[in-house]
Amino acid sequence: MPSAEPSPSLTVQPSPSPTAAPAGSASLVSGDRAYGHVVALAQDIGSRPAASDAEAAAADYIADQLTSYGYQPYLQPFEVEYSVEQTDLEVLSPETITLEALALRSSPSGEATGQLVAAGIGRPEDFPAEGMTGQVALVERGELDFSDKVSNAAAVGATAVIVYNNEAGPFRGDLKEESAIPAVGVSQEDGQRLLGLLALGPVTVRLSVETGLVQGTSQNVIARSPDGRCEQVVGAHYDSVEAGPGANDNASGVGALLEIARVLAIGGGEGVCLVAFGAEEIGLVGSQRFVADLSQDERQALRGMVNLDMVGVGDQWQLAGSDDLVEEVDGQAAGLGLDPVPAELSAGLTSDHASFIGAGVPAILIYRFDDPRYHSAEDQVQFVEPRLLEQAAELALLALGP
Ligand code: BES
Ligand code: ZN
Repeated sequence: MPSAEPSPSLTVQPSPSPTAAPAGSASLVSGDRAYGHVVALAQDIGSRPAASDAEAAAADYIADQLTSYGYQPYLQPFEVEYSVEQTDLEVLSPETITLEALALRSSPSGEATGQLVAAGIGRPEDFPAEGMTGQVALVERGELDFSDKVSNAAAVGATAVIVYNNEAGPFRGDLKEESAIPAVGVSQEDGQRLLGLLALGPVTVRLSVETGLVQGTSQNVIARSPDGRCEQVVGAHYDSVEAGPGANDNASGVGALLEIARVLAIGGGEGVCLVAFGAEEIGLVGSQRFVADLSQDERQALRGMVNLDMVGVGDQWQLAGSDDLVEEVDGQAAGLGLDPVPAELSAGLTSDHASFIGAGVPAILIYRFDDPRYHSAEDQVQFVEPRLLEQAAELALLALGP
């Protein structure tokens, strides 16, 4: 994108022919180098939740890499506060089984051990006439509000409630207000397993819900272009969810980002700033902070943002965000031998490009779909493909223009 270009969108020059080798710096990108960063972040450091020591270690790693390429990176610290929760559910007898459970939102913290009693869908008449003092209720999802099921159980003396899904898979239910006793949800399959055990005899379970507040410091890692100007930003979040090591989400994006940084340091990086965002997983906090801290002049100088998030797993390149940018990159990708599709992130999903669009800066998200290990302990490095990291970096360089 030439700097005199008045259009707010990134401009990509047409490549000479669709079969030509990627122009200029793009061909210098190494998928293996990018993958090395994924291993360093997701395997050596591991899970990197916002404000954790691991997140800070990842920021240091990224800053060290950028320094080694010749940048003068700096940290942009900010305070974060968010709630966390740990839910455990175990069958203690007739055999020991650990089950996946998700606390209903607004469940209080607490621990309960007791005999399991099936109580239909949790209507008052579904509970045993003699009450269930000290016992744990097992009810099916559906028909009544979760809050009514749980208060009906508490009214007859239950110490906790397990709600099983009325369709396949797990779910995450919401209580209208904090309940008197802990309440968790399990999949339909696990619900049926528990009913199967109850058909054979008494079942004892232990359930605990622990909620807490994390308060601490997160940070963005920023490397400005050699002349300090940020006409374009390439970004990727480096934090992860607590549940897993975040190899694809989003060490993959950071691996590609660092490769872009290395290649742009060799030449062509004028006006391009590189930003690794902290605290994305708790609400895009790092990117919100980055845009909020821009002066009016800096904000006006910023013509586009390229976000790399989840670029190492999946079947298809997708492009989301500002229409002009999506169209331009889509139209040029054939020159790299790639065929991305314009897309929208599924309902409820978002990432850091949204913070820029919200601030009036055109932005594009480059990502792949679909990752079955998203936000799980299985989001590990062996599923990330170096070849895809290379393609992600090349697509991002294409978005930046010649
Ligand atoms: N990486 C995801 C968003 C995403 C999902 C990108 C699928 C590409 C494909 C991101 O890290 C995420 O989980 N975002 C949260 C953010 C929210 C807490 C503000 C989300 O969308 O739920
Ligand atoms: Zn992500």
